[in-house]
Amino acid sequence: MQLEAKNVSFRYDKKSPWVLMDVSLSIQEGERVGIVAPSGFGKTTLARILAGYEKPSEGQVLIDGKELPSRGFCPVQLIYQHPELSVNPRWRMEKTLNECFTPDEALLAKMGIEKEWLHRWPSELSGGELQRFCIARILTPKTKILICDEISTMLDVITQAQVWNILLDIAKERNMGMAVITHNKALAEKVCTRTVRLDK
Ligand SMILES: Nc1ncnc2c1ncn2[C@@H]1O[C@H](COP(=O)(O)OP(=O)(O)OP(=O)(O)O)[C@@H](O)[C@H]1O
Ligand SMILES: [Mg+2]
Repeated sequence: MQLEAKNVSFRYDKKSPWVLMDVSLSIQEGERVGIVAPSGFGKTTLARILAGYEKPSEGQVLIDGKELPSRGFCPVQLIYQHPELSVNPRWRMEKTLNECFTPDEALLAKMGIEKEWLHRWPSELSGGELQRFCIARILTPKTKILICDEISTMLDVITQAQVWNILLDIAKERNMGMAVITHNKALAEKVCTRTVRLDK
């Protein structure tokens, strides 16, 4: 499977400045592409466009040459920087985890998710624990490309390494494609198979 952004330009409305201008990139399965740029250069905007949450103002995003599906499960999934903003605060973790599929015990064990956490509210978990849920819940076999938008910025160095080790293991095992969006060049060099820079 291949995800392709073709000459993507984007602005939030017709009067505001362009955030992205003529961005083209592709992500093949098995490939981990680092997307590195300073703050404000449009990384999160690009992440949302690649995952189909936002339509490009110009250009296209294609998966195997076709538009991203507008209904049903999208094989491109996005993991956000702030896990607390991507879960429903009124749902216990068990419900959030099982929203789109039921991860098996092996996956939960691999992600280091403890059974006891399933009955808690999101506010009763640490950022790192919550991020594990946010990752596990989208790792259905149907997910082929993962867009990771600064997913470990708010974690301490040890948790960061743990989360990346797990994610890399799974990505390699399933031959998933990944976009690793970060302003941390060292992280990109460590986990990616290649890196592109977003220019202003
Ligand atoms: N919903 C929005 N409406 C209007 N402008 C927005 C919106 N979201 C972001 N922007 C603007 O778009 C530009 C790019 O923002 P974006 O969040 O994509 O940058 P980023 O590279 O992810 O930054 P950071 O590294 O700080 O997360 C910024 O100038 C921002 O102010
Ligand atoms: Mg951002």
